[in-house]
Amino acid sequence: MERIFSGMRPTGSLHIGHLSVLLNWIALQDQYECYYGIVDWHALTTGYEDRLDLPALIRDIALDWLSVGLDPDKCSILVQSRVKEHAELHLLFSMIIPISWLERVPTYKDQIQQLGKEGGKDLSTYGFLGYPLLQAADILVYKAHAVPVGEDQLPHIELCREVARRFNHIYGPVFPEPKSLVGKVPLLPGVDGRKMSKSYNNAISLTAPTAEINKKVQQMITDPARLRKDDPGHPEVCIVFKFHQIYSPEADEVETNCRGGKIGCVACKKHLAANLDKLLSPFRERRAYWEKPGRVEKVLRDGEERAREIVTATMKDVRAAMGL
Ligand code: TRP
Ligand code: SF4
Repeated sequence: MERIFSGMRPTGSLHIGHLSVLLNWIALQDQYECYYGIVDWHALTTGYEDRLDLPALIRDIALDWLSVGLDPDKCSILVQSRVKEHAELHLLFSMIIPISWLERVPTYKDQIQQLGKEGGKDLSTYGFLGYPLLQAADILVYKAHAVPVGEDQLPHIELCREVARRFNHIYGPVFPEPKSLVGKVPLLPGVDGRKMSKSYNNAISLTAPTAEINKKVQQMITDPARLRKDDPGHPEVCIVFKFHQIYSPEADEVETNCRGGKIGCVACKKHLAANLDKLLSPFRERRAYWEKPGRVEKVLRDGEERAREIVTATMKDVRAAMGL
């Protein structure tokens, strides 16, 4: 079976915008040997001054993953900072990778601008420049064949392939060149129409209880031209409808009824809220199971152990190739 690695930074609880990525990870569990990393060192590359409560954030994201349906019998879930080989390989890669390769990564200058100059963070650090190199080490230390990622990560995977190629060229064939598996991620707005993001407070969290779902759906902006229930509506300008399109099998019907002035926005919102509630309710049940003391800890210990088997073997090959 081919192997995959993917990861997420533990920066706060996940929302339904993350769902398609996680469902993709879950589907891959049956086709690949999967390693999913909670990449806490990466969280520090931009959040080093934020005094993040990493143990709590790590537990939280692990619970989110398990609640949605990652199955520790089928995949390994590990914490990056507990598998030190990620750091060793990053260090060794830093010997052979020209700085210009890292400065050229398109996200680098953008992020410095966005988070740095505008967000008040000083990202002119060694660690932030090395972010994609650490990511390459995350992947290559498992000799992964493939990496499920969103479009935004493609430049990082391309760099990872170049790192593998350069290492193999200098020291001999150790690493496969992993390919990206780009999952389809529907563009989901937040309840206010901007991009869904925790920091805009417009997200619906994966763990939202029924009352919160209802409240968030209430806040969604509908077609402003509709004053009365039988006014014909324009679903294309309505946030509620965007959600129906992703989450409601009956979206076509909603569209017809809206255009024909046959449903009111209040009923339409109730309908969406009920569908979202149905979607999230199995996650709540699973979460209640995983929340019991000791369960997440065991998953992370097992994941670490399985990871260690692979990375120990890789690092043996790497040290031998480099003459260490
Ligand atoms: N950079 C990735 C992101 O922000 C997170 C990440 C770190 C990752 N290491 C990885 C993703 C290795 C895939 C493989 O989404
Ligand atoms: Fe939006 Fe539904 Fe109202 Fe139409 S009926 S405008 S889709 S909330």
